[in-house]
Amino acid sequence: MSISPGISPGISPAVYIVGAGPGDPDLMTVKGARLLAAADLILYADSLVPSQILQTAKPEAQKIRTANKTLEDILPLMVEQVRAGRVVVRLHDGDPCLYGAVHEQMDALAEAEIPFEMIPGISAYQAAAAKLGLELTVPGLVQSIILTRISGRTQVPEAEELASLAAHEASLCLYLSARHVEQAQAKLMAHYPPEMPIAVCFRVGWPDEKIWQVPLKQMAALTQRENLIRTTMYIISPALAAKGEAGKLRSRLYSPTHNHLFRGGA
Ligand SMILES: C[S@@+](CC[C@H](N)C(=O)[O-])C[C@H]1O[C@@H](n2cnc3c(N)ncnc32)[C@H](O)[C@@H]1O
Repeated sequence: MSISPGISPGISPAVYIVGAGPGDPDLMTVKGARLLAAADLILYADSLVPSQILQTAKPEAQKIRTANKTLEDILPLMVEQVRAGRVVVRLHDGDPCLYGAVHEQMDALAEAEIPFEMIPGISAYQAAAAKLGLELTVPGLVQSIILTRISGRTQVPEAEELASLAAHEASLCLYLSARHVEQAQAKLMAHYPPEMPIAVCFRVGWPDEKIWQVPLKQMAALTQRENLIRTTMYIISPALAAKGEAGKLRSRLYSPTHNHLFRGGA
């Protein structure tokens, strides 16, 4: 892919809400990188988006960190730039549709009659599964993925309580929960076996990435020992323990005994 800074054919003035992916600049979509290279104004959540992500931006692009800003600070900047015919990129970590606080931004932009578009990104759970070499949906074992968090300053609705989601024993990817890890561990252990391996994934895709696999019963102790507070996600999945058991849990899709539409029987 070649990206020419300053050349933005076919990119109309608008706010592009771009998923930056987990941190590794190579994990942004081609569309996201193309928009970033064309942007006149880039607003980025600096607490979660590493600055290397901005390497393809035009040198003259205005770059504003948003960790210490409110929507009321950011909105007028976006509106003014788009009305002046410029391209604005609002960069969010991972995929903007997950814990991105984009809902209120999009409502406010729509109200101000500012065109906007959301560009998906790779979420932390996908990057973590890739690093672990892990399929989260292993036939005969687990076929659902739950993306959730524990209640903190943002309350989780009662019907989505972690303990009740854990009862499904699905592949559960836990965001935003390191500060309340003891509580999370206790709720998970109500349903998953305490010895089941889980993954603790810190800053996946960042230069200081660390990933540990420990029994569920050590999830809180490890988090506290390593002082993990932010940018940590947990993968709790029966698929982790089943790694290396492909013979027993093989998918039918590529099995020689399974015929389907694209691979008829002899
Ligand atoms: C505000 S949420 C945003 C999630 C993001 N939109 C996504 O799709 O990954 C931030 C939380 O996502 C998780 N997270 C985001 N990036 C991560 C990364 N690179 N490594 C590990 N966890 C990450 C952590 O749980 C972090 O506290």
